[in-house]
This record gives sequence, C-alpha cells and structure tokens, in this order.
Amino acid sequence: MTELRMPVVVVNFKTYPQATGDKAVSLAKICEKVAREYNVSMVVAPQIADLYRVTTVVTIPVFSQHMDPGEPGRYTGHTLGEALVASGCKGTLLNHSENRMQLADIEEAVRIAEKLKLYTIVCTNNPFVSVAAASVRPSAIAVEPPELISSGISVSKAQPEIITGTVEKIRAVNREVAILCGAGITTGEDVSAAIKLGSQGVLLASAVAKSDKPETALRNLVGPLRK
Ligand code: G3P
Repeated sequence: MTELRMPVVVVNFKTYPQATGDKAVSLAKICEKVAREYNVSMVVAPQIADLYRVTTVVTIPVFSQHMDPGEPGRYTGHTLGEALVASGCKGTLLNHSENRMQLADIEEAVRIAEKLKLYTIVCTNNPFVSVAAASVRPSAIAVEPPELISSGISVSKAQPEIITGTVEKIRAVNREVAILCGAGITTGEDVSAAIKLGSQGVLLASAVAKSDKPETALRNLVGPLRK
C-alpha cells in the first residue's frame, strides 16, 4: 500500500490551463524540486489526461483527481483503478466537491483502490460528512468548505472549527485515517495554522496552479514545514 509521510502537501492541478499538458509537467517538476530542497512530503494531482506524462518525469507521488468504481471491461469513459496503476499513479482523490460521488460508489472505489494498493483521499465538506466518509476506511479525509475553495481565504483562518470539529469527530470513531484540510490555503501561515489545528496536511490548488510564480508560491507555502 502506498504510504504518505505526514505532514503532506497535496497540490491539485484541477483543470487550470497553467497546469495542463506540458505545463502540468513543468509544474510537477517545480513541486518535486521544492519538495526535495525543503524535505517536505508532497503529492501532485494533475488531470487524468496528463497522469502518464507526469509520472514519467517525477518521482514524488502522482495522484489522480478522481477514480470511478467498476471492474475493467465495459465502462466507456470511466477511469478505473487499474488504468491509474498502469499510468504510474500512487493514489487518488475521491469525492472532490467539484466531482461529487455517492457514498456507495466512494466505498466501492476505496475497496478497489485498497486491492490495487492505491492511497485514497476522500474529500468532504464538513465534520459530519467527514465522519461518514471515514467510516468507509479510506487512507485519508480532506475536509474543504466549498465556499472557500479558490477564494484566497484560508479554511484555517476563516473556519478553524471545520478542522477542529472534523478531527474531534473522526478521532472518536477512527484513529487510523489521516486528516487533511483545504480551501483557500495561500500562505505558509495558512499551512502552519492548519497543522496547529490538528490537520496532518493540506490540499491546495489555486495558490500554486494559478500563480505566475508557482515556485515562489510553493516555497512560501511549505517553508514552515521545512525539515
Ligand atoms: O483540491 C484543492 C481545493 O479544492 C482547494 O482549492 O484553490 O482553494 O486551494 P484552492
């Protein structure tokens, strides 16, 4: 099973033009460079169409932004775990607020990912949904209030209770699952605040993927985690 060292910074490339195709490759290389230099655990999540080209050029873990449940064979247009493994992926996001799934499908995807040794990060929107998602035993939960996504206003500053509430509620029933948070995380200070609130890492996108200077943005973000 793929394991991640905590604290972890997961950079979601979403479908930003600045992080698509050849630019996904360049951005992943920047992430790897900064991760090495700062000795920080980092994951990149490019679009599915870019996964293979990115996994061939970096050694940091590459995750998919989504995975569908289902057995290989007849699922036209779906992205199955077997194809993710074949593309060199080490894990996947599930149920991102921009690509919601039903709980039964999340559970099936998590079981398949387990068999394939893929790490699973199930995204959620609040502490209650986080507990429901933790009950299907993914590798990690990432709580992200949708209204703060790409707002530049950090969850760790604007809604700290979402993080503390998620940690408290999940830990009452599940001691294993890793707990991450995201939405609006823009600076190293936002990252530090998230960790202080009990998060084991962050999931972020626009601060890096939309930046004119992604390397500078990333250095600022991971500075407080430097080993
Ligand atoms: O998956 C990360 C995410 O939804 C947060 O996005 O742009 O607010 O960092 P952003």
